[in-house]
Amino acid sequence: MTSKHSQRKNEHVSLAEKFYSTPKNADFNRVKFIHQSLPEINLSDIDYSTYLGHLKLKCPFYIEAMTGGSEQTKKLNARLAQIANATGIAMACGSQSIALADSSLIDTFSIIRHYDKNGVVIANMSASHSLDDAIKVVKMINANALEIHINAPQELIMPEGDRSFYWLDQIKAINDHFNLPIIIKEVGYGMAKETIQKLLDAGIKIVNVSGRGGTNFAKIENFRRPDQDLFYLNDWGQTTVQSLLEAQSVHRHPEIIASGGIQTPLDIAKALCLGANAVGIAGEMLHLLIHNSNDEIIKIIKQWQAGLKIIMTMLGCRNIYDLQQQKLLLDEKLLNYIKQRHIK
Ligand code: FNR
Repeated sequence: MTSKHSQRKNEHVSLAEKFYSTPKNADFNRVKFIHQSLPEINLSDIDYSTYLGHLKLKCPFYIEAMTGGSEQTKKLNARLAQIANATGIAMACGSQSIALADSSLIDTFSIIRHYDKNGVVIANMSASHSLDDAIKVVKMINANALEIHINAPQELIMPEGDRSFYWLDQIKAINDHFNLPIIIKEVGYGMAKETIQKLLDAGIKIVNVSGRGGTNFAKIENFRRPDQDLFYLNDWGQTTVQSLLEAQSVHRHPEIIASGGIQTPLDIAKALCLGANAVGIAGEMLHLLIHNSNDEIIKIIKQWQAGLKIIMTMLGCRNIYDLQQQKLLLDEKLLNYIKQRHIK
């Protein structure tokens, strides 16, 4: 029988797909590259590998945290792991908090290692867990990194969610303990410079701003409420582009991961240019998973990889560092945002 918690994992998948829409509004359309006519570069010289701390990613985009915790999402994890393995991209699993409470669900996550033995796999849990729990989730999938998600709006809108949010001390203790990269991650609400500064002060070295504009957990959790009474919170948070601008304004900011509403290699390139070291893709990946075979998705991801190299070549950028030095044009709305937030 499916437990209440496993049922929630299935609902997140079906509701994320129900509310899937394109084009997304993470503000990437408000950002433009400047075309350069003399790239002086050969496409075959492009190296888009990147680092999160000391962890090397062969490709700068990866499958962001979504699945595990039920029989249905175990199957999705198995497919994602096969896809990650075939394309050489990293993958994060969904929150393993559920498997800490019910050990019969461990295999819904550990199956990833069956299909992606040597790839980069990222563990995931909520910020309410202890250091002991963090050690367990990393071990559960022999993870190369750990994402700790911070998701106060989602919990508060979720009928059965947490109501107490003292997270920072715990996050710091976990971060201090581990040698492997610890990533503090939002879930689609974005981050402000004040949040990033607090994380930096706590010693955090990698932050995933996960902004608004793609999967919308306010909408998803509202739909799960009997009266859907918190509908007016559906637009809460900063977009991914706004969050990246916030991050750049923090002096000696942590390494940044962008996620939230990423749907094309052009979005990926813009996110990297706005200072991200890597880019996570969740909702778009789930949509592909539901509508395509593994082989079709592998083909699409390879097309994305080729597309990103084409964009880098057009810009004359040999590597991610070159891309991060490119200047972008921002539209009036973003300029207004920058002015009001006193950033840059
Ligand atoms: C998520 N996301 C998520 N994040 C996390 O840290 N732990 C989790 O367990 C989940 N679960 C989850 C389930 C489903 C079905 C989706 C679509 C997403 C959030 C995800 O990692 C990401 O931060 C946001 O979805 C924004 O990115 P996209 O979806 O707009 O690319």
